[in-house]
Amino acid sequence: MEVIIQPSQDAANVVAARIIEDLVRRKPAAVLGLATGGTPVGLYKELIRLHRENGLDFSRVTTFNLDEYVGISPEHPASYHRFMRENLFDHVNIPAANINIPDGNAPDIPRFCAYYEEQIRRAGGIDLQVLGIGHDGHIGFNESTSSLASRTRIKTLTTETIEANQRFFAPGEPVPYHVVTMGVGTIMESHTCLMLAFGAGKAHAVEAMVEGPIMAMCPASVLQMHRQTIVVMDEPAASRLKKAAYYRHIYENKPDYQKLCPFPLV
Ligand code: F6R
Repeated sequence: MEVIIQPSQDAANVVAARIIEDLVRRKPAAVLGLATGGTPVGLYKELIRLHRENGLDFSRVTTFNLDEYVGISPEHPASYHRFMRENLFDHVNIPAANINIPDGNAPDIPRFCAYYEEQIRRAGGIDLQVLGIGHDGHIGFNESTSSLASRTRIKTLTTETIEANQRFFAPGEPVPYHVVTMGVGTIMESHTCLMLAFGAGKAHAVEAMVEGPIMAMCPASVLQMHRQTIVVMDEPAASRLKKAAYYRHIYENKPDYQKLCPFPLV
């Protein structure tokens, strides 16, 4: 796992966007895994800027989102379909036919989940998966105690996640308990994972993920077993890391080309 600590969220978003830009320029038909929530909003803004000002072309890119709520309409203000349109898809040139988001209204959800996995396989797998981290170390909606080998499936959210996500819903409106999420095993098959983590509220989860034991209580910790995970964070999110000085030293002394995706895409 590579840890990149930046002085601010803006600086972290620029680093993360450059990694995606480099991938899309080298592989125009790249397959991107995308996340929602508060964390990736600044990254998506920077990608939109690169598209508008630097001609970053997404016309051959395919995307797969991590998760969606069960039982709310794609038009609902808190749905991840709507989030993605508002924060990225309406502003770049990814063809609608190349966009994949779990269908939380599928009549047969297990069957839909198998189909989603098959679509990822048919696309050739995910080249780069964008991730955020929950306060309890969840990735996607794989809550604590999720199988570290899990695949796309329906999950029940914890009370903590429901409380954390209440801010995206109208006051008093219930947050759905059920979601469809890519599994931890699905995420682990991505060629590269690019995680963002911001703010002191994420410091414990980041510490557990990077320096703690691998355990289902912190699903993100399994990324220690992933061949290429890059975690870009701000100072407050890094505040509990024991080896922070070492991570800074590594990044500051890297040649520029290594600051992008160090492994070639296969
Ligand atoms: C959302 C997702 C979740 C979030 C996590 C953090 O697609 O996969 O794992 O990344 O809940 O949420 P924020 O970014 O709102 O703190």
